[in-house]
Amino acid sequence: MTTPATETAPSSPAEYEGAVGRAREAAAAYYGDGGSPLDDASYDELLRAIEAWEKDHPEHVAADSPTGKVGAGAAPVGDIAHTTRLLSLDNAFSPENLLSWGASVARRLGRPVTGGWAIDLKLDGAAIAARYRAGRLERIITRGNGTHGEDVSHVIGTIVGLPTRLDAPLTVEVRGEVLFSHEQFEDANRVRAEHGAKLFPNPRNATSGTLRAKNRPYELPMTFFAYGAVELEAETFLPDGATHAEILQAVADAGVQTTADTPAGLHVFTTLAEVQQQVDVIAARRPSLPFDIDGAVIRANDTAEQSAVGVGSRFPHWAIAYKYPAVERMTTLKRVTWEVGRTGVIAPTAELEPVEVGGTIVTRATLHNPADIRRRDLRLGDHVTVRRAGDVIPQVQAPVVALRPGGAEPVPLPEVCPNCGGEINKAKERWRCAKGSACRLPALIEYAAGRDQLDIEGLGTRYVKALVESGAVSDIGDLFTLTVEQLSAASGSDKRGAKLAEQIAAAKSLPLNRIFCALGILGTGRSMSRRIAAYFRTMDAIRAADADALRWVEGIGPEKAPVVVEQVADMAPVIAKLVAAGVNMEEPEQDTESSDEGPLAGKTVVVTGKMTDVLDGYGRNEMNELIEKAGGRAGSSVNSKTDYLVAAETGGKPSTKAVKAAALGVTVLTPGAFAELVADFIG
Ligand code: IVH
Repeated sequence: MTTPATETAPSSPAEYEGAVGRAREAAAAYYGDGGSPLDDASYDELLRAIEAWEKDHPEHVAADSPTGKVGAGAAPVGDIAHTTRLLSLDNAFSPENLLSWGASVARRLGRPVTGGWAIDLKLDGAAIAARYRAGRLERIITRGNGTHGEDVSHVIGTIVGLPTRLDAPLTVEVRGEVLFSHEQFEDANRVRAEHGAKLFPNPRNATSGTLRAKNRPYELPMTFFAYGAVELEAETFLPDGATHAEILQAVADAGVQTTADTPAGLHVFTTLAEVQQQVDVIAARRPSLPFDIDGAVIRANDTAEQSAVGVGSRFPHWAIAYKYPAVERMTTLKRVTWEVGRTGVIAPTAELEPVEVGGTIVTRATLHNPADIRRRDLRLGDHVTVRRAGDVIPQVQAPVVALRPGGAEPVPLPEVCPNCGGEINKAKERWRCAKGSACRLPALIEYAAGRDQLDIEGLGTRYVKALVESGAVSDIGDLFTLTVEQLSAASGSDKRGAKLAEQIAAAKSLPLNRIFCALGILGTGRSMSRRIAAYFRTMDAIRAADADALRWVEGIGPEKAPVVVEQVADMAPVIAKLVAAGVNMEEPEQDTESSDEGPLAGKTVVVTGKMTDVLDGYGRNEMNELIEKAGGRAGSSVNSKTDYLVAAETGGKPSTKAVKAAALGVTVLTPGAFAELVADFIG
């Protein structure tokens, strides 16, 4: 069973009660052992379905409904009273949601907002209140149920950005988010492994676990960013009538890190259109941020306007969270396959029940190594969380033990090398074939010499074996520096040696697509290599491409792109050998070259996304052909030389390319508008 992707609104009181029960169970598990049967995205959806029913049936709202409560009423509540309530935030999921929230703010205010909108990151950690007295950090309290929280002062002194002493003897309560940066998270799990402790499935879980754990024999550093401050005991700290941005500046001046210090900063805009642009810029930057975010927070910047707009039972009316798609989802682990890499490493891959993560369907994910599989106690058939942060290859995070089917078998580990059937070297955590790179080398060299690659006729299994065993060839780069003598020795005849040398010399001037294909990059056979070479034209351009750029080659999806990028990067030493040997690294121009006539004469056009309208079904090759017929040149990435970006509508979140085009002032055309421009050349 996998998590349902879509929650439909309950249609009867019984269904409603069932939905409330499921939501409460999920929330309790979330704050308890982390064994929630729902992932965040599904939980959000369930909550929205419950809310929709409650709106239509206000008289039937269950007393234990999670909708009216901070933390769904399931967060651990401590005994420390908060100075003023720690509120949660309402969510927006689309530009329309943002605009209608803006309209509701104006309605409550009786006029449009004049103090502007502040926007910063919605950090995915845990909310805390940190009380400073006379400049000393005295107490840290969790959000709890919003009015009471737990004392977690044991973490004082372990949080980057939350100093134990301020720069001035101030008495103030700073509020913000504590989290594990990606680097801190990796370190924390390393320390946990050393102590034989269970690994944290994700940074947010690590945060709540660390706040709760009072007697650990080790310390795990975290990071803090403030997003607010409250005055304590009539001490004036905040400038009179300060704006939100000024409050954060005062907090920063006292020595505390704020959301203005994050890579995306804190920005104040006059219009919600500008805010939406920043929402899109943050979405584009999300993959490269050093910590997890789940959205952006937008609020009225003027605190007088905030007071006038007011707060509801759970949310302030003057602020909203614009949520991005979840990067972590839950699915089922079907089986684990093992592949031997170029260097002999035996790498496991999880085969999953297909699940949508961050907008794309994931069916395979990386697992680290056998020791990690055992540490996480993964079993076949387990519910697992899968994470795809940014352009990295999706990874399996953790099993949800509470949902484990009865009798689930531990993931079997290989007993012999899955490639050659030989012995496995288990000395390190990453297992290798005992033969090392020699395990796959003969097959790789033979493949490279094949007709569709370097076309070195006669270089078959026997001679390749001899060359590898003599140590003359340890990668395909070595083929090009072999002497006639070495080739003669390997083939047992001077005549054959001379013929092989001739063919190897001829292979140096083959087009890039053949050389690239010879590298044996997984997932790039003959026609894919042709498409890659035709698109990028030079090996340098292929090497410079990130996963996003590669996806514009027809047939390269979100799962393949990062894998290809990683393999191309690994091949750097081999490519260097090829270049040094004088091997051609360019793809010759095709016949359909750009001309100086046509509506696109002299223009460079970049295409992104799925084409629509008249161009419906046009793939990468068709679009390139069309651009060239109309006199233009097809580019692979948006830069200062780009004239047009043809971008499919994405229904909200613009692509990275669209954001870049907007920043560079490149004209962006919809597929429909572009089709009109080149109408004479279509069909
Ligand atoms: S403002 C009254 N700003 O999101 C406004 N919250 O879902 C209260 N969060 O409990 C919060 N980043 O833990 C605010 N830049 C940010 C935030 C942020 C993360 C968290 C916070 C809050 C939750 C609401």
